Amino acid sequence: MDRFSRLLTELKHSPQTWLVTGVAGFIGSNLLEALLKAGQNVVGLDNFATGHQRNLDEVRNLVGEERWQQFRFIEGDIRDKATCVEAVKGVDRVLHQAALGSVPRSLNDPITSNEVNISGFLNMMVAAKEEGVKAFVYAASSSTYGDHPALPKVEENIGKPLSPYAVTKYVNELYADVFARAYGFKSVGLRYFNVFGRRQDPDGAYAAVIPKWTAAMKLGEDVMVNGDGETSRDFCYIDNVIQANLLAATTELDNSEVFNVAVGDRTTLNQLFQAIKDALDEQGVRYAKQPVYRDFRPGDVRHSQADISKAENLLGYAPQYRIFEGISLTMPWYVENVG
Ligand SMILES: NC(=O)c1ccc[n+]([C@@H]2O[C@H](COP(=O)([O-])OP(=O)(O)OC[C@H]3O[C@@H](n4cnc5c(N)ncnc54)[C@H](O)[C@@H]3O)[C@@H](O)[C@H]2O)c1
Repeated sequence: MDRFSRLLTELKHSPQTWLVTGVAGFIGSNLLEALLKAGQNVVGLDNFATGHQRNLDEVRNLVGEERWQQFRFIEGDIRDKATCVEAVKGVDRVLHQAALGSVPRSLNDPITSNEVNISGFLNMMVAAKEEGVKAFVYAASSSTYGDHPALPKVEENIGKPLSPYAVTKYVNELYADVFARAYGFKSVGLRYFNVFGRRQDPDGAYAAVIPKWTAAMKLGEDVMVNGDGETSRDFCYIDNVIQANLLAATTELDNSEVFNVAVGDRTTLNQLFQAIKDALDEQGVRYAKQPVYRDFRPGDVRHSQADISKAENLLGYAPQYRIFEGISLTMPWYVENVG
């Protein structure tokens, strides 16, 4: 049995209380679903800035009423310290996901991204430290690699940030490091690389590429490609991310650490276009148009691919899904929920 399967069995036998911030969002609601299915008690915090009640309703349907009773939701803002203190009360392990994502959003409004992603993060970290939680895992980002040209990305070699969003995520790591040195408060940062899967929001100006393109294809609209389509990413299916979070929150480490969370593959946007088109085709949704190419987007890195050996070695992380499997598993949700 692999480390993750063993962990799920252990958790079922000795349930813990978890706080998931950003619980109404894409990754947060998937963590909630996995934790409730594993018999855990969960407190969730969200202000619905980009998350949705419908995500919570869907989890409720999926887990059933009995398990849903193990969940307590706080509607609130991580920019308010008292809310963070309330949320961590009695909690064993924190999975801090709440933040304003998206590079373009941060370029349009760096002040709000800074307030939520840095001040909000600091509130959560101080509250968790004061509560003496057993584990604090937070959503870091591959954007921290910035302009560093090396591929694959190794945790210790980062470049200069290319967007305000990247600055905020890097500052989280700096605080995490200082909290370990100054207060002995350890934490784990997970540098997610382009996560995708069910419940990722397809709507709005700041939607991520996979939900945005999937919705466009489903609705027969144009698919816009930023640049020549040879930009590449290490797309990571949500179930791998759930695994990484649960392992990170339950592994005893000597220091605060950051880990790449990805697969270790590299897929171009042109390949991605074909993969989504094929997977939708399998679902009976035909898309006949060609992609429309436009300018490169400011703040975007050209290529991204993770070296995941640190997470493999220290956490026992073993991603179970590669991109094409993940896309096939994701499409039915979009076919059902878009349009
Ligand atoms: N999705 C990715 O590919 C990716 C990649 C790298 C990092 N991340 C990080 O992972 C985390 C989760 O991202 P996601 O893709 O699920 O995005 P999401 O927008 O679906 O989820 C974020 C959640 O945080 C909530 N939130 C925002 N501001 C808040 C505030 N002030 N107080 C309380 N809640 C607030 C939102 O309402 C939302 O439910 C974020 O920290 C994001 O920066 C995501």
